This record gives sequence, C-alpha cells and structure tokens, in this order.
Amino acid sequence: MRKPVIAGNWKMNKRVSEAVALVREIKKAGSIPQNVEVVVCPPFVSLSEVAKELKGSNIKLGAQNMHWEKSGAYTGEISPVMLKEIGCEYVIIGHSERRNYFCEDDAMVNQKVLSALIHGLKPIICVGENIDQRDRGETEVFVSGQVKKAVEGVEKDQAEDLVIAYEPIWAIGTGRSADSDEANRVIAMIRKTLEDVFDANIAGEIRIQYGGSVKPDNIREFMEMPEIDGALVGGASLQAESFYKIITYDR
Ligand code: 13P
Repeated sequence: MRKPVIAGNWKMNKRVSEAVALVREIKKAGSIPQNVEVVVCPPFVSLSEVAKELKGSNIKLGAQNMHWEKSGAYTGEISPVMLKEIGCEYVIIGHSERRNYFCEDDAMVNQKVLSALIHGLKPIICVGENIDQRDRGETEVFVSGQVKKAVEGVEKDQAEDLVIAYEPIWAIGTGRSADSDEANRVIAMIRKTLEDVFDANIAGEIRIQYGGSVKPDNIREFMEMPEIDGALVGGASLQAESFYKIITYDR
C-alpha cells in the first residue's frame, strides 16, 4: 500500500525566524496524522533550525533543490551530503520554476535524481506541461517523456524511494487547480510509464502526488482519487492553519 505524502514547498518564503515560527504553529495546531507522510521544504538557510524544531515530531524535512556532486567548485550550490547531514529525508528536484527560471533541463534533473538516491535522499521529481502544450493535446507525450528522462538509470531496487509530483504549470500559483479527474488520468498515465520503465509491481509502489493550487477546500477530492498519492502544496503551506487543514483533510 502506498502511503500518501503531503509536502509543503515554501519556495523562497519565510526568513529563518519565520520558518521556525511556522513549524511551531503547525505542531501546535494538533496531532500530525499517521495516515499520510507530512513533509516541509523550507529554503536552505532555514533547514538546520527547522530540523531542530522537528525533532521528536513525525513531520519530515525536505530541501527544494540540490547539486548532483557531493562537493567541489560549484559556487552557490548545496550538495546532497550536506542535506543528508542536516536531516533532510526528501529533496524536490526539477520543479518547473527551476526548469523555467534557472535553465534546468532533463539531463540535469536526471543527474540530481540519481545522486539523491545514492546519497539516501528521496527525490520528489516534478513534471508537468504548460498551458500551450495542454491546449495542443501534448500533455501525455510531454509528461511521460519528462518522467522517462528523469528516472533513466535508476535501479529497480532504488525505485521505491522515488516520488513524482505532477504539477501542471498552468495550475501553479494561479488558483486554478486541475480538475481531480484530469489529474488522476495524467497520474495513471505516469504510473503506466513507470510500469514500462520498471515493472508493474514497482510502479504500484511509487507515490505520485498532484500539485498546483491545492487548498483546504479541494485537497479531499484529489486524495479520494485512486491514483493520486498526496500533494505538493505551495501557497497554502505558508500558513499553519491552511497547511494543517490540508494534512488533516479526512478529519
Ligand atoms: P501552489 O500551491 O502555490 O499553486 O504551488 C504549487 C507548487 O508549485 C508546489 O511545488
């Protein structure tokens, strides 16, 4: 059985003091559910402090990006070894904002995925089409291509640690989420792609999230879909109240 994972991607928001305060508020909001894995992904500079705050809770820590090398002359970059030492269990890779604003391509995403797995981090691999691709009916071909390139070279025994986040670009930060049937259909297609790359058993274990304008009032419809295993939440993860409502969608 796949345990859904709901992760908050804070993007470039919250100073260190605010990040710590947000985690405290989430913890104060009530018990953290056991039926979903809850992850917060603050900016790099807050990871250490947030990690301390998370000790003893069952909220997990994730980073928003990483370099593929362990160390070296890569000014401004952060390595998987550093993230692991701080206590990260997850790392978001290939978010559309990184692909679009920082020129990350499929080959870089693939290198990062392979490196994350080698260093014991679970990659949350983001894929998704833009509005023009959607309008031209290219969603499936484009998204399955992204998935195949991202997981190239991943061994079968590593594949269970993969998480895929289907985030249609037109739904990110727009308030216009995909409809849950449509998201479920694309995610089923992603699972079929994983089946072709690995096998049906492995594809059946890999968690695939939906992301894009997930809010307290729509989380439930996504979670009720058979293929959707959680959510990657941007804006609504920046307030304790809305994030807590999302992670406790079934209470
Ligand atoms: P929003 O939830 O703000 O639409 O952002 C989604 C996202 O990009 C999460 O990675």
